[in-house]
Amino acid sequence: MIKPHGSDTLNPLFVEDADKRAALQKEAEGLKSITISSAAAGNAVMLGGGYFNPLTGFMNKADTLSVAEKMETTSGLFWPTPVLNAVKDAGDIKAGDRVALKDPNVDGNPVIAIMDVAAVEELSDADMTLISEKVYGTTDAKHPGVEALLEAGKILLSGDIQVLNYSYFATDFGDTYKTAVEIRSEIEKRGWKRIVAFQTRNPMHRAHEELCHMAMERLEADGLVIHMLLGKLKPGDIPADVRDEAIRKMVDVYFKPNTAIVTGYGFDMLYAGPREAVLHAVFRQNMGATDLIVGRDHAGVGDYYTDFGAQEIFDDVPEGAMDLEIFKADHTAYSKKLDKVVMMREAPDHTKEDFVLLSGTAVREMLGEGKAPPKEFSRPEVAKILMDYYQGLNS
Ligand code: ADX
Repeated sequence: MIKPHGSDTLNPLFVEDADKRAALQKEAEGLKSITISSAAAGNAVMLGGGYFNPLTGFMNKADTLSVAEKMETTSGLFWPTPVLNAVKDAGDIKAGDRVALKDPNVDGNPVIAIMDVAAVEELSDADMTLISEKVYGTTDAKHPGVEALLEAGKILLSGDIQVLNYSYFATDFGDTYKTAVEIRSEIEKRGWKRIVAFQTRNPMHRAHEELCHMAMERLEADGLVIHMLLGKLKPGDIPADVRDEAIRKMVDVYFKPNTAIVTGYGFDMLYAGPREAVLHAVFRQNMGATDLIVGRDHAGVGDYYTDFGAQEIFDDVPEGAMDLEIFKADHTAYSKKLDKVVMMREAPDHTKEDFVLLSGTAVREMLGEGKAPPKEFSRPEVAKILMDYYQGLNS
């Protein structure tokens, strides 16, 4: 099997032993505590499940700036985005403390992890600007990722953590939420050798579906892991349970049995475009995938990134830093002439009018009005689930 990123075996930070976990839970009651940001809780979940292997906790200031600047920690580990526990006010927490980290996303704010605080450091305004520019490609506070970064605060609590649970992901998405450890073992059990991963934060429309079929055929893959983001999105995006239902339906009807598994991970969307695509690649390698589909405006938002910036960034990944490969997909759409979904560059005789092209906004408007998107855009079974959801919103 493909090796994890940066180590020979996966080192998940979730405390597997139930007795040990109970003892840590008890210990937490006597520790200083702090409620962390949703983004930091997502990081803890990713660290817990082995996705962020080989990191052992939250990054300090030097690593944060080094990663932002050149996608590498101070010790030379290739890593594309800072993994932060940033707060507005650290209270009396200081280096050397053992601290209980409380989950902002679950009622009663239970402890999600225990942290050995190695440093408490403040980022300057210049540091924040550097991180925004390098990671998100903009300093615009209206960018949802930059907004979340600014909102979390400038004080970094860094150090190793022990993770006690997977927040609301394991409880709310029991069938879909999977750790990297679980996905690796499922791949091994199935005996798959070449595994395509598909990142998504959307219900899958026909272009998404066909991208997966194309990648599988062209790479002669044994299996596909559809891996959806289950964490927070920007307002207006479709909630995870609705996406999950739509994707499962699509797989049931349109994929050969036992060729695709539907899974998800617990992390808030960064909207960091190219940098997030590289993070996606790192954690798909950790879960055992050999290839990741990266198409048009991967992990993008608004007009902040170019259509294929998330593919071009992989040219900057140093030789040997990653074993997983990228399946670079062109803009994909339904061709009325050929009566099937194609990559546009593979249909050079077509004009724009030969394709069914709809913006996300146009699709949302149709659904909001109770109209199904055209069958060339969405499978009817998927359209029905989305229409029911949008009509529920309006009633
Ligand atoms: S993402 O933020 O998770 O990347 P989305 O769920 O829409 O958003 O996309 C999942 C993957 O499909 C990404 O790799 C994206 O680039 C790709 N993709 C989505 N739609 C298209 C399309 N029409 N043409 C090419 N690639 C696409």
